[in-house]
Amino acid sequence: MLPANAVQAAQHMLLPYLLQASVVVDATAGNGKDTLFLAKNTLSQAAVWAFDIQPSAIENTSRILAAAGLAEKVRLIQASHDTLGSTLNQPIDAVMFNLGYLPGSDRHIATQPNTTLAAVEQAAHLLTIGGLMTIVVYPGHASGILENQVLQQFLSTLPQQNFSVACWSMQNQINNPPLLYAVEKRRELRR
Ligand SMILES: C[S@@+](CC[C@H](N)C(=O)[O-])C[C@H]1O[C@@H](n2cnc3c(N)ncnc32)[C@H](O)[C@@H]1O
Repeated sequence: MLPANAVQAAQHMLLPYLLQASVVVDATAGNGKDTLFLAKNTLSQAAVWAFDIQPSAIENTSRILAAAGLAEKVRLIQASHDTLGSTLNQPIDAVMFNLGYLPGSDRHIATQPNTTLAAVEQAAHLLTIGGLMTIVVYPGHASGILENQVLQQFLSTLPQQNFSVACWSMQNQINNPPLLYAVEKRRELRR
């Protein structure tokens, strides 16, 4: 069966990568559903890192991890994901971005093109060979349109010798449905 939406498609694509991952990242923890997905589907010795700027997101994520008995496995970081490189500074096997705003919360606290791009660049640099980054972007709202433009410009110019980049979306949904970008590292970029 096809995934119902871009977030489900991201989780579906990530599953085989998680089975062998040591370090994985949720760059936008929100209500913790994606962090829980990462914690549940990685080996017990894997480390999961989750970032969000909102205290309520960190609290909600902490709560659902504790309820699932997975709190120990996850480092919750209340900071912008563009600090990912300096916070982790180690290879990452898989990273998820689920952009935009937290449903049911202040829509003004949404991801922004410049910090998203910086975080995606850092994640692409830290990704292990054979590692996967997924990015779900929401062009149905104004800042999502800009965010998508910036991401598309960056991702479409990644050299194909170093990265495979794909885009998935539902083609027959109204109101600009979310897009999923999937980025797999093939070979290190020389800097
Ligand atoms: C669509 S929600 C994420 C949903 C979440 N993954 C889940 O499973 O519930 C987007 C989240 O990005 C967070 N966010 C906004 N700007 C951010 C930034 N610069 N760094 C990290 N998180 C950010 C928001 O606070 C919000 O919680």
